[in-house]
Amino acid sequence: MSVCYHQPEEMQSAIARWRDSGLRVALVPTMGGLHDGHLALVKAALGGHDKVIVSIYVNPTQFAVQEDLARYPRQMAQDKAALAPFGERVSIFAPKTLYADDNATMIVPGGAALPLEGVHRPHFFTGVATVVFKLFQAVPADSAFFGEKDFQQLAVIRQMVRDLDLPITIHAAPTIRAADGLALSSRNAYLTTAERAVAPVLRQVMQDCAKQAVAEKALEATYETAKAALQEAGFGKVDYFYFCDPIRLQAVTDVRDDSRLMAAVWLGDTRLIDNESCQKLCAAQ
Ligand code: PAF
Repeated sequence: MSVCYHQPEEMQSAIARWRDSGLRVALVPTMGGLHDGHLALVKAALGGHDKVIVSIYVNPTQFAVQEDLARYPRQMAQDKAALAPFGERVSIFAPKTLYADDNATMIVPGGAALPLEGVHRPHFFTGVATVVFKLFQAVPADSAFFGEKDFQQLAVIRQMVRDLDLPITIHAAPTIRAADGLALSSRNAYLTTAERAVAPVLRQVMQDCAKQAVAEKALEATYETAKAALQEAGFGKVDYFYFCDPIRLQAVTDVRDDSRLMAAVWLGDTRLIDNESCQKLCAAQ
């Protein structure tokens, strides 16, 4: 059974002991509700590290008042059970809170944090950057692992690590998908059975759009086709759906092998996000 640490001080002393004895330590930050995407990050981290800490903390500062903080899945017993098979090399860090009652300092990222989610959820990356910075303090690991599912989050964290000279290496792991293509996310638990059946259409539409964009280069027309297909399938509002560069996440007018199609689309009361790489398609051209 993995050890569960609750206090930053006990986590820091354990890590200091491990690192003093030459062990390499990785952090996998999560908000719990663990699924195979998180477990893939743990496996990737175990590849090059002796100890892996999975942090489980539903960070209130990345939710706006009208968002889903109250209904976000909290399932510590299941999360512990999901990590148990990894044995003693994997521990949990589950702080009660990471903020003082009178916390008055936040990290406000610019650059990669401004477009896309930055437009639709303006509070979000301030909350994410602040909590990830705090997690890096509480869990001073050699490396941290993030999923490409949250592609913009990954770019914002890389940017913060570079800009603030943080002594940690960031690793990315590919998105893990259900057999029907839906990207795994803790929020998929909100989907009704009927919505869950429709949800994989997002990936299909994104793949079709990427193929069309690489072949025909007429981006506006491909966006129109894609949005019509989403509407037809039963999706609601499209918050964004366009190709970006992979570093600053600015819209591109020419699709290249490093461009990413980024999408956030509502399905009932659930907001799905996903992204699609153009690398393979461009290589095949
Ligand atoms: O991706 C997430 O689950 C969260 O945004 C993170 C990185 C754990 C910060 O709360």
